[in-house]
Amino acid sequence: MIEPIPTPINTNKNMIPTRIPMINGSVFLKPYWLPDRVNKILLGPGVPVANKVNITKGNSKLCSCGVDPSISVILNGIVWVQLLLCFLLIKNCNGIYVINLIKIFIVPMTIWQPKLIEVNASTNSSSKSNTPKYKQLADAIDLAISQGTLKADEKLPPQRRLADSLSVTVGTVTRAYSESERRGSVVARVGSGTYVKSSNNAQYLSLALNEDCFDLQSAKAPMAMQVDLMASALKEISAESQVLACCLTYQPEIALKHQREHLASWLTKRAIHCEEDNVLFTYGGQHAISLALQTVCRAGDTVLCEGLSFPGITVACQQQQLRCIGLQMDEQGIVPESLIAACIQSNPRILYLTAQIQNPTSVQMPLSRKKRIVEICQEYGLVILDDDVQFLAAEDKVSSFYQLATDSTIYLSSFSKSFSGGLRLGYIVASNKYREPLKVNLRASCWTVPPLIIEIVCRWLTNGTMNKVENWLAQEMRERNRIMVEILADFELTFQASGFMTWLVLPEQWRAVDFVEFALQKGVMIRAAESYAVGRFSAPQCIRICTCAPQTQAQLIQALNLLKSCLLTSPQANNLIM
Ligand SMILES: Cc1ncc(COP(=O)(O)O)c(C=O)c1O
Repeated sequence: MIEPIPTPINTNKNMIPTRIPMINGSVFLKPYWLPDRVNKILLGPGVPVANKVNITKGNSKLCSCGVDPSISVILNGIVWVQLLLCFLLIKNCNGIYVINLIKIFIVPMTIWQPKLIEVNASTNSSSKSNTPKYKQLADAIDLAISQGTLKADEKLPPQRRLADSLSVTVGTVTRAYSESERRGSVVARVGSGTYVKSSNNAQYLSLALNEDCFDLQSAKAPMAMQVDLMASALKEISAESQVLACCLTYQPEIALKHQREHLASWLTKRAIHCEEDNVLFTYGGQHAISLALQTVCRAGDTVLCEGLSFPGITVACQQQQLRCIGLQMDEQGIVPESLIAACIQSNPRILYLTAQIQNPTSVQMPLSRKKRIVEICQEYGLVILDDDVQFLAAEDKVSSFYQLATDSTIYLSSFSKSFSGGLRLGYIVASNKYREPLKVNLRASCWTVPPLIIEIVCRWLTNGTMNKVENWLAQEMRERNRIMVEILADFELTFQASGFMTWLVLPEQWRAVDFVEFALQKGVMIRAAESYAVGRFSAPQCIRICTCAPQTQAQLIQALNLLKSCLLTSPQANNLIM
C-alpha cells in the first residue's frame, strides 16, 4: 500500500530545506465527511499545502491504508494527531468520498526564502535607502514570481516562519504580504494563507524587473504613488456613468473645451501663458514632435537640432523625409555661430531644442544664450520647437523659448516623465496660426487621444494630484542625484539637481562604445554618446546615466557602485590589430 514516491528536492538557491512529512493515499469516507471538512482537518498546521488533499467522489467499496513504522517514528506530534484522524476516517470506509491521501512518506521540503537587498550595504556610500523593509520584501516576491521561483497558486511561507528566517518582525511580513496583495501579485485566502495569484501577472512583472542587469539607461519616472493614483481615478470615474459614456463616444479631435481650459490654466501657472485654443492633446511627446514637424515642414526641408539629441527627432525627420543637421554644442547648449552658419548654408525651417535639460548631456541653456538663439531664429525666420518633455522641478527651470518668443515657438511636453510613460499623454502649445494645421494633422494621424486618459489627467491637473507627484519626483531625484555624486565623485559629471540623467566624461582609457559593452557584461546598462549623435556629428567619449531608472534607491546604489568599479577598470588589450 505504501509506495515510496520520488522526493521532490528543490535545489533552488532561494529555498531553505525543512523536513515536512507528507501524506498520500486513498480512503473512503462516511457520507457526513464532506470534502471541505476533511480538508480543513488534514490541512491544519504542520502539513504543507503542497500536500493538497485531493478528494473525489467515488463508489468503490474497498479501502485500505498503512503506515510504514520505520518512517512514521519521525512524524511530529501534530502530524500524529492528523494521522489518527485519518485512521478514524479509514475505519468508517463505507462512505462515498475517496481521499487520495494515505501514502505516507517523509520528504525534505523547502520554503521560499527571499533575498532582501541589504539596504545599508552600499559600499562607498553612507546613504541609507528610503525603501522600507516591507516594500523590499514585496519587491522580492514580485521578482520571485517574475522569475518563476514562486509559481502560480504556490503558498507563501507562514508569516512567522519567514519573519524568523529574515530576522524581521511578523508585522513587517504581514505588511509585505498586504502590499503584494495590493499590487495584485498574491491573494490571501481566509484561514489558509497567502498564495501567488493564479493569473499570469508574471508577464507584467518581468517587464518591470530584471535581476540580471541594472538599468541605468532608461529615462523613466520612478514609480511611487502613480499606480495607486490611477487605481483610485479609475474607481472614481467608474462610478460616473455619464462621464464614462462621454469618454466612450467619439470626441472632437481637440478634446472638450473644459479639458483644454484645465490644461491651459495649469500651464499658465507654470509660466507657459496660453489660452484653451492654443493647446492640443497628443499621444505623448513623440507624437507632438511628429505633428509639429508635419505642421511646419514639407518633405526635403531642413531641421536643425543639437549635435547630440533625443533620437526621436531624427527618426521623425527620416519618416517625413526631412534633413536633420546637428549643431555644435558647448557647456551652454548649441553654439550661436554654428546656428548662424547652418541658417546661411541650409535654409532650415525649424530648430528643435531640449534646452531646459538637454537630452542626453543634461546641459541647461542659460537665459542669455536663449535670448541670443531667439534673435538668430527671428533674423532667419526659423520656428523653434521647444521640447520640454524631460523632467525638471519647476523651480529648477529657466524661462522657456515659448515665453521669450511666443509667436515663433511651438512648445511641446508630455506627462511621460512627470507621471509615467505608459500614460501616453502629451500636448502642444502654439499660437493661433498653427491651430488649424495642427488639428488637421492630429485628425489624420489618430483622430484624437483616448478621452478617458484626457479626463483622468485633467482631474489630476485641477485637484493638485499632478503637482503632488511632481513634488515627490523632484525630491526623489534630488536624493538620487545626491547619492550619485557621492559615489561618482571622482568623475566629470553634468546633471541638474532634479533631472533624470547625468552625463559622464569617461576616463582616458575608455572609448564610450567599448565601455557600454563592458558595463553590460558586468551587469549594468548605460548609453554611449554615440546613440545620440545626429548624422555624422562626432560623439565625445561620454555616457548617459539615468539615475531615475532603478526601482529603488537601494538598487541605484548597487548599480552605481558596479558602474564605478567598471570605470576604474582598464579595457583589456585583447584587440591587437596587425
Ligand atoms: C527630449 C524628449 N522628447 C520627447 C520624448 C518622448 O516623450 P514621450 O514618451 O512622451 O513620447 C522623450 C522621451 O524620452 C524625450 O527624452
